[in-house]
Order: sequence, then C-alpha cells, then structure tokens
Amino acid sequence: MPSASSQADGLWRLAWTCSAVVEDSLLWRLEQLGIHHTATVREPDREEVVTVLAWLDRQSWSEQQVRELAAPFAPLGAVFQAPPPRFSLAEQTREEWSSSWKRHWRPDPVGNALLVLPAWLDCPPEQRHRQVLRLDPGRAFGTGEHPSTRLCMEALERHQGVVKDALVVDLGCGSGILGITALTLGAARVVASDVDTMAISTSRENGALNGHGPERLQVVHGSSKELVPWVGSGADVLLCNILAPVIMQLAPDFAQLLKPTGGQGWLSGLLTSQADAVRERLAGLGWRTELAATQQDWALLAFTPWEPTPKPDLCRPAAISSTYQP
Ligand SMILES: C[S@@+](CC[C@H](N)C(=O)[O-])C[C@H]1O[C@@H](n2cnc3c(N)ncnc32)[C@H](O)[C@@H]1O
Repeated sequence: MPSASSQADGLWRLAWTCSAVVEDSLLWRLEQLGIHHTATVREPDREEVVTVLAWLDRQSWSEQQVRELAAPFAPLGAVFQAPPPRFSLAEQTREEWSSSWKRHWRPDPVGNALLVLPAWLDCPPEQRHRQVLRLDPGRAFGTGEHPSTRLCMEALERHQGVVKDALVVDLGCGSGILGITALTLGAARVVASDVDTMAISTSRENGALNGHGPERLQVVHGSSKELVPWVGSGADVLLCNILAPVIMQLAPDFAQLLKPTGGQGWLSGLLTSQADAVRERLAGLGWRTELAATQQDWALLAFTPWEPTPKPDLCRPAAISSTYQP
C-alpha cells in the first residue's frame, strides 16, 4: 500500500489493449482531451494487438473521473469492426512511470538524416550516418513519436538552408525537441518557451545533453508574449506545435516574433480537418499560408509574411532583352 505522500505524488496508469487499427483513433481522442503523456506498447510477435498507455496525475483526477473519461472509449472497436479495447487502471509512482516508460522507448529515425536517441542508449551502428538528438523527455511532451512533432522535424530537415545560422523561436517547446533539432541542423540560436514549468527544465537538460548551453538555447517560462523581448527585430524561423485553438489564440503575436521579411513559420498540432480554419485565421492577420505536409490526421502549415509586390519604377525604362534589335 503506497504511503499518503507517495499517493498524492503518484499517477494513474490507464491501459487499453486493443486491435492495432484502433490505436490512432484512441491516441487522437486522448490528444483532444489534452492528455499528452501516452505511449504505445507493441509486442514483436503480435503486430495486430497494441496496448495504448496514458498517465494522469492523481492529484488532479479522482478514480471516478478517470473511469468516466475512459468509458466513451469502449465503443471505439465497433467503429473499426474490432473487439472493444480492454481497459485497465492502476496506480503508479513517478519512479515506476519513468522506468516503465523508458523501457518502451527505442532509437527513432526521423526523416532522412535524423535520429532521436533515448539519452540512456548507445547509437545503433546501422544508424551512425544520422544526426543524433539525445533526449530524455522526462515528464514533458516531445519524444519525436507524435506525427505533429515529426512533421516539424522533417520540415526543418527539408529546409536546412533556411535553418542554418538562423534565430529560431520554439513556442510550446515541451521536451525541447524542435529547438534542439534546429540547433543540430545548424541554427545559430533558439529561444523557446512553454507554459509548463516541467518543460522548461526538461528542455534545458536536453539542450545540455546535446551540447547546447544557455548561450544557444534560451528557454523561458510563458508563452508568445514572454518570447518577444528575446527576438530583437524578429526571428528567422518560428515553430509552434500546439493544438489548433491555442495556435489561433496566439497567432496575433506571431508578427512580433517573426521578422517581417524572409521569415518562415511552421505550425503543427492541428488536424487536417482544422487546417482551413487555422489558415483563414492567419490570412486574416496578413500571413500567407500553405498546407506543407500531412501525416495520419495531422497537418503542417507553413506561413510567411506577405511580401509587398515591388511597384514598377516609372523613371526607368523596362529592361531590354539582349536580343532586342533597334
Ligand atoms: C504538443 S506539445 C509540443 C512539444 C514539442 N514542441 C514537440 O513538438 O513535440 C505542446 C506544448 O505546448 C505547451 N503549451 C500549451 N499551451 C501553450 C501556450 N499557450 N503557450 C506556450 N506553450 C504552450 C504544452 O505545455 C506542451 O509542452
């Protein structure tokens, strides 16, 4: 029986054992409920069955509330003509959580040239050609597993020329994974923020694990407004992987964060079904947007400032082509 103090400090471990076809839908619903501490356990010899795990703070959730939250997941199987997910609930200490979760995490190749490597593992020889990001996400979001994180990481890799020597804003940094990816790809400096204090210490620790000290990775507690004093006349790149309603709320501050000419922003954390609404919101604020990529149900939006179209110079004659014959 756990002591009163360890109980107050402990977690609920929610587990759904289900058909693999139900996994995405289950994880999506958890994400929609704002539950980010999740993992999927696969057994190598039973690919058709997975166990989706989620953790909730026992200080904030009573057992009855957790069971009420889990009840609507039961019919999910029927949607996919699969058996209902088998739900179980257990108590866990933070230490148990940390070690059980770590057991399930493996080196994870992302894009063509990146590897997210759990801080406690060695780089597998077959992945040595990749650029390694050492990470211990602790209790913050961002292991690189989630499509919204991968979409951003892959965009950074595809646009390494934009990232090189850039000042990068990482809004909603979680484990710090996006900022650290940018630094690994050659960014000069990253300024990051998160409303979750756990994310602040975790991002700093992960920065240090990758050799990026406070002179290159500055992490502040807060949101978009708290980043403004750190970006001078504007960052070259802005990354924001937060849910769509929050992105839309923060969008008016983007103009103070991204430089007015040549800045490049990427937004993920939104579902493909939400992309049009987010694009409309940004267009209304004067940004040019593009649906840059999708993964499962998640979308990546690229946004840039509208560049004013140069007015024709009335004093100078139009350029004469070299084939012009008087
Ligand atoms: C989906 S996670 C993304 C973490 C990481 N950047 C990644 O890509 O994996 C979203 C993060 O945004 C933070 N967050 C939520 N609302 C925020 C806000 N208004 N301002 C700043 N951060 C916020 C959360 O605490 C969480 O760490």
